[in-house]
Amino acid sequence: MANTGTDEALAAQHLRSGKLVGIPTETVYGLAANALDPIAVARIFEAKNRPAFDPLIVHVANMAEAQKYCSHMPDLAFQLAEKFSPGPLTYILPKNQLIPDLVSSGHSTVGIRIPNHPLTLALLQQLDFPLAAPSANPFGYVSPTTAQHVLDQLGKAVAYVLDGGPCEVGLESTIIDLSGDQPRVLRLGGLSLEELEATLGQKLAVQTSSSNPKAPGMLVKHYAPNVVLRWENDLPEQLPQNIGCLRFSAPHAAFTTGRQWVLSPNGSLAEAASRLFAVLREIDQAKPDLVLVERFPETGLGRAINDRLKRAVQSGA
Ligand code: TXA
Ligand code: MG
Repeated sequence: MANTGTDEALAAQHLRSGKLVGIPTETVYGLAANALDPIAVARIFEAKNRPAFDPLIVHVANMAEAQKYCSHMPDLAFQLAEKFSPGPLTYILPKNQLIPDLVSSGHSTVGIRIPNHPLTLALLQQLDFPLAAPSANPFGYVSPTTAQHVLDQLGKAVAYVLDGGPCEVGLESTIIDLSGDQPRVLRLGGLSLEELEATLGQKLAVQTSSSNPKAPGMLVKHYAPNVVLRWENDLPEQLPQNIGCLRFSAPHAAFTTGRQWVLSPNGSLAEAASRLFAVLREIDQAKPDLVLVERFPETGLGRAINDRLKRAVQSGA
């Protein structure tokens, strides 16, 4: 089992020798490797059991570093970075030849992100290469929001987990594609659509469709716990005995006996987002026969929460 701690120098040493390291970010924990070393990157795909058609996000310390890996940096990227980087936003940009094909899955673009976590920013500053890092979960399962989640599932694959405490945002980054004529959102995430649109002064197309996805991580079967989840207004005819409820802020009045998981008693979407993945793991451990899921308000982070819940509901075992 891997070590865990707050020693960035040790994490850097492992990464320089081509090993995998779990890294904290404000969104979810990443499974990191040297993005410029195809052999190290191949270990990520192997550890996650991730199909090679699903490209990885490249993490850098600042925009000057980001520019090193792009053939062209659009003005919109600078405009957004001024406000949101470091932060929960990934830019899809035209890549240059420094980025191995395995990282971009053969696409001509690369996803770049400047994560907002002091330990990982310090780590990136020590390295002379960027870090390719998908979420540190087996492909298709819920993303990790603590170092322990990474150890539990990928402890054998990583040399070290840099422990930065529980992730503050708790949902993966929002992905915006800046490689075409018009900006498009490919994944709803930790930065709300409203904030992006307000900054850009325009409505954004949202293309998170799961058939033939541009961001393959948006496949329907994703973020999937093992327990069966259903929207609470779409009940099966026969209800099993051992039912649970996953709620936003108030317990479900009709199910006093079942287990209830309430994400934010105060009704804070940010708090609900930060707890969602840890609670889905708790639910998996409790193994109810069925969990009824409340739909969140379709605003701010509620959109991204609904997106993750939709995938969990559709794909429950
Ligand atoms: O918050 C996050 O973004 C976390 C942390 C660790 O940074 N990372 C993360 O990575 O969620 P991952 O691999 O689980 O999800 C990355 C998503 C995938 O859906 C992938 O298809 C998409 O980004 N993606 C990466 N590069 C892309 C590209 N060039 N074009 C389109 N989509 C891309
Ligand atoms: Mg992921």
